[in-house]
Amino acid sequence: MAKENELMRIRDYFPLGMAIGDAFCNRKKETEILVENILNGKHSLLIASRRYGKSSLALHALSISHLPYTEIDFYMASSEKIIETYILHGVADLMGKALGAMDKWINSIKKYVKNLNPKLEIGGTYMKLELTASTQSDPAMNVKEALLLLERLLEEKKTSAVLLMDEFQNVGMIAKGKGIEGAIRHVAQKTRYLTILFSGSNRHLLRTMFEDEARPLYKLCWQLPLKRIALEHYQIHLQKAAQIAWSQHLSDEVFYKIMQLTERHPYYVNKFCDKLWTYCSKKPPCMDDVNLYWLEVLEEEKSDAIKEISILPAGQKNVLLKIAQKNTLKLTSKQTILELQMPSSSIMRALASLEEKDLIEKEGNEYQIINPIISFYVLKNAPMVS
Ligand SMILES: Nc1ncnc2c1ncn2[C@@H]1O[C@H](COP(=O)(O)OP(=O)(O)OP(=O)(O)O)[C@@H](O)[C@H]1O
Ligand SMILES: [Mg+2]
Repeated sequence: MAKENELMRIRDYFPLGMAIGDAFCNRKKETEILVENILNGKHSLLIASRRYGKSSLALHALSISHLPYTEIDFYMASSEKIIETYILHGVADLMGKALGAMDKWINSIKKYVKNLNPKLEIGGTYMKLELTASTQSDPAMNVKEALLLLERLLEEKKTSAVLLMDEFQNVGMIAKGKGIEGAIRHVAQKTRYLTILFSGSNRHLLRTMFEDEARPLYKLCWQLPLKRIALEHYQIHLQKAAQIAWSQHLSDEVFYKIMQLTERHPYYVNKFCDKLWTYCSKKPPCMDDVNLYWLEVLEEEKSDAIKEISILPAGQKNVLLKIAQKNTLKLTSKQTILELQMPSSSIMRALASLEEKDLIEKEGNEYQIINPIISFYVLKNAPMVS
């Protein structure tokens, strides 16, 4: 992967993974807020649908902040004990990155540790700290101790560091508002040197964790919801890549078609543009190229999309179709209720469920399907609702 400031190859402009360097399009306001928060020790919560650019933004802001950080990804977490292991690893790793030569701080650990077992792993040229806890001990206590230990060592050295906690809704699902969630709040309320950057894609669960007064993380963070990248920002981004590849602009017609087909979903913009810039390496794509290669994207994504749609109950499929049809009628209007043959309460339940599954989101007063490929296949295989 290309590093920031390294010369970019044209194929690096549209990565399917993290967008870094010149591949990172705009997000200037969000970056500015996040960098400010990070540098001032304010915890933040990044919320957005899958593949909207949370990790890219977090890493972009962290690289600007020049602070040491470690990423803990909870997507595989299945119990409090496993969450504890992830956090203990993350804490030990961040100590290594933030505190410099180990002989300067290793003795301080003994002052603060009660339940945890710090161990030194000595390799050929390196020394690594490992933090473990006994199997019977309480994960919440251990997590609290580890995070406080990190904060105290950072304070001794008067240096700051960041823990990036990704797919954090899984912690809420497992801890259900108690235990580890409470331990993290306990520490997060008092840290000055350790900043936590929470992020996740299940908006519903995250909002419950951070907004529900009964939950321990209530009001602890600056919430930063991520939307799609604006059209005018993509205009600059794509035209710059066009200049590099062909020393020419994309026609307006082609540019707007790319935006319309991908619906500015960051992952699909990149997937599609990478194809266009590769297949049309000699000259800018024309409308026929755009239509042809979009079919290829649709074909590649077909099985995943069909799988996601087919497991939905009938009511949710029908509501999804109504949204895909971009019907201007309210979803609970009399006519829609008649067409769907569903009472408004069932329609509301279907909407809530589709939102929880991260298939739809609300923009202003309107619902929209998040993934343009799902939208396409919902319309293509539309069941006939009389
Ligand atoms: N600012 C940006 N400019 C251009 N492309 C971007 C930007 N942010 C993200 N992308 C692209 O969007 C896609 C998803 O990015 P990323 O992995 O950062 O998102 P995510 O929200 O963390 O995804 P996930 O839900 O899978 O963790 C990638 O193809 C990435 O290159
Ligand atoms: Mg991510």
